[in-house]
Amino acid sequence: MNVKKAIFPVGGLGTRFLPATKSMPKEMLPIVDKPLIQYAVEEAANAGIEQFIFVTSRGKSAIENHFDHSFELENNLLAKGKRQTLASAQEMLKIPGSYAYVRQQEPAGLGHAIWCARHLIQNESFAVILADDLIFGQSTTKEMIKSYTSGNMVAIMEVDKQKVSSYGIVKVDKSDKDLMQINQMVEKPSVENAPSNLAIIGRYILDHKVFDVLEKQERGASQEIQLTDAISSQLDRVPCLGYRIKNERFDCGSKLGFLQANISFALNRKDLNSDLSNWLKTIV
Ligand code: UTP
Repeated sequence: MNVKKAIFPVGGLGTRFLPATKSMPKEMLPIVDKPLIQYAVEEAANAGIEQFIFVTSRGKSAIENHFDHSFELENNLLAKGKRQTLASAQEMLKIPGSYAYVRQQEPAGLGHAIWCARHLIQNESFAVILADDLIFGQSTTKEMIKSYTSGNMVAIMEVDKQKVSSYGIVKVDKSDKDLMQINQMVEKPSVENAPSNLAIIGRYILDHKVFDVLEKQERGASQEIQLTDAISSQLDRVPCLGYRIKNERFDCGSKLGFLQANISFALNRKDLNSDLSNWLKTIV
């Protein structure tokens, strides 16, 4: 299936990362030397996405600047002959018109953020990538698009039972498959009411009809307009598949997940592996 557009919701407040995120977007936090949002855009580009739509908010201009030229920096590096460093500063530039930005005026939730991008999506299915869910290895979005034919699809993984109240949780018929038919979804259930421990992770392929539902969606868990609620209310008309992610995922919206991602990605880098692992051995 041809999926050419991806939405990157980056309008949240990132309160779990204060004070770091007071004047800097959470999505600009670096994993080793690259901001989270760049990993997300690279994953989308690997999946064949051609239009990158960011739902931003006040104070997020660093993201727009990151995906544009920085003439002073580039001229300086060029003058000094630092070609490799220059290439790394330019690697996120794409052909003009590839990036689009819409503003979410208030952080009313993920569902609301997606709805804010409705005028940029036509009669087509599109991807959604949450940059703070960082998934190691191959492009998960690419794998999802390969398996996608129609309807909605969400990435899922098993989480610790005690943590279900932080996620959208799904119920499926057969949980031993890689692609599962979802028959119930609930956002942030209590441990007692959760239908399973299969949680929705920040990757989606959505049918454009979701906008009709989001238009009227009332506030749900955390007093926010929830994407899970919108997908759930369509289940009788628009089937939803759960795609079990294959690689390790890091919740970089949490401090622990962010630290784990940094260590894991650094250990995977030839230039850092040896010094870092030697140092880790001395402190652990
Ligand atoms: P999170 O709940 O993880 O992000 O939303 P948050 O609200 O920024 O973080 P905390 O909980 O206060 O620390 C998942 C993704 O959805 C985006 C966020 O930017 C994040 O990438 N989001 C969330 C929006 O774009 N708008 C919103 O109103 C809420």
